[in-house]
Amino acid sequence: PGKVSKICCIGAGYVGGPTCAVIALKCPHITVTIVDVNQSRIDAWNDKDFKLPIYEPGLEDVVRGCRGRNLFFSTDVDKGIQEADLIFVSVNTPTKKSGVGAGFAADLNYVELATRRIAAVANSSKIVVEKSTVPCRTAESMRTILESNSKPNCRFDILSNPEFLAEGTAIGDLFKPDRVLIGSLQTPEGKAACDALTEVYANWVSKDRILTVGLWSSELSKLAANAMLAQRISSVNALSAICEATGANIDEVAHAVGFDSRVGPKFLKASVGFGGSCFQKDILNLVYLSESLHLPEVAAYWRQVVEMNEYQKRRFSKTVVDTLFNTITGKHIAVLGFAFKADTGDTRESASITLIRDFLNERANIKIYDPQVPHEQIWFDLAEACPNLPLESIKKSVTICPSALDACNQADALVIATEWKEFKEIDWEAVYTNMNKPAFVFDGRLILDVEKLKKIGFKVTVIGRGNVM
Ligand code: NAI
Repeated sequence: PGKVSKICCIGAGYVGGPTCAVIALKCPHITVTIVDVNQSRIDAWNDKDFKLPIYEPGLEDVVRGCRGRNLFFSTDVDKGIQEADLIFVSVNTPTKKSGVGAGFAADLNYVELATRRIAAVANSSKIVVEKSTVPCRTAESMRTILESNSKPNCRFDILSNPEFLAEGTAIGDLFKPDRVLIGSLQTPEGKAACDALTEVYANWVSKDRILTVGLWSSELSKLAANAMLAQRISSVNALSAICEATGANIDEVAHAVGFDSRVGPKFLKASVGFGGSCFQKDILNLVYLSESLHLPEVAAYWRQVVEMNEYQKRRFSKTVVDTLFNTITGKHIAVLGFAFKADTGDTRESASITLIRDFLNERANIKIYDPQVPHEQIWFDLAEACPNLPLESIKKSVTICPSALDACNQADALVIATEWKEFKEIDWEAVYTNMNKPAFVFDGRLILDVEKLKKIGFKVTVIGRGNVM
């Protein structure tokens, strides 16, 4: 393979959209077409007022910078495949809901369908890049599918190029990645394909940050990175439980531990639990892989990271109920934040959903405010989380509010579920005046000024602190 001049990305989601938009911006000499089977998603990417399908700071500027120039969004998947010399497969790989490995294994149906489509319509050689997070050896399956179905004179080289961006900071992460990882077969052809993709990234990433490894190492590195990041959070959250029981302060403990240069300060914030589409899914994937490889101790080790996360969410809901005199039936709870973290509208696996489900099961009334999540998404997620409750009855107990202040009006308690910056700047005096007394605050993200709130009169409970009330 020579120089890449046309790229197609299959999957216009949280990864495919931002990643390939940044490639287009940084490589004006490359034509990038992002294709998806979801018409409304593609329409939103093409929206004339730039109301894009995902919220990500800085994304709009990137798309404005190159859409219509060398960046295109389309539902014509076949044409996108045919014209490209390099194809990213960036489709979703959710946890399987049924069948073998249900609840653990990744559902590779979308990856396989996209791969089969490439084999069916390609009429020239392609570099096919696995961008989705997949279990080890998926590249091998892709290669078998492509090679068994290809036309004469079509060669396919497979690369693994997992994405390490984090939602909420995706554009910054893509502009200045810690590293770009490319896995390839260690054959002359594999290495040539790897060089071709390296040249694309080298337009803005320095070569010492572009790591080239074998295919399986690349695939496993992505699962390993997410497992170790999530493990840090579960470790801190496990310590937060000890802090609450002893009167220690998890912020102080994390700060002290993080000062050790071997540990480092980042990603040590205690919280109500991690969310997002990746951590849990990728760890479960690793657990499944370990079990398939007859490594039950390894599987149990990683599974505990997810179990600790579930425990943390459960523990937090229980603290709310316990603190409100053991019942929240009929009480009003304001939940601030519905996205799984700040600066995204993504709600997949959001801790907020679990908390609200628990509160609904206690027959509380809930008022929700989130600055980015669309209302339909909230109803969709709550209906999915509470299969025992018809949507009409959920809607009787839940109100979606236009501001934090509205949500807190007449509330018995307020819960910080997402660390949106604006929640630090709420007019607390006004909130206090309008809340029922005693006015309880539960900080699930450790963002509030506890002393200030206590002075106003709030009863404050913070994760990882004993007796702050
Ligand atoms: P997503 O669900 O937002 O986007 C996937 C898109 O692929 C959807 O729009 C879907 O319609 C489309 N699609 C599925 N099958 C298709 C087909 N055969 N032809 C054309 N389009 C098809 O998923 P997201 O979040 O972008 O994730 C994609 C992959 O990237 C996953 O494997 C995920 O684990 C991985 N990843 C996600 C990160 C994140 O922060 N969301 C970060 C790093 C990796």
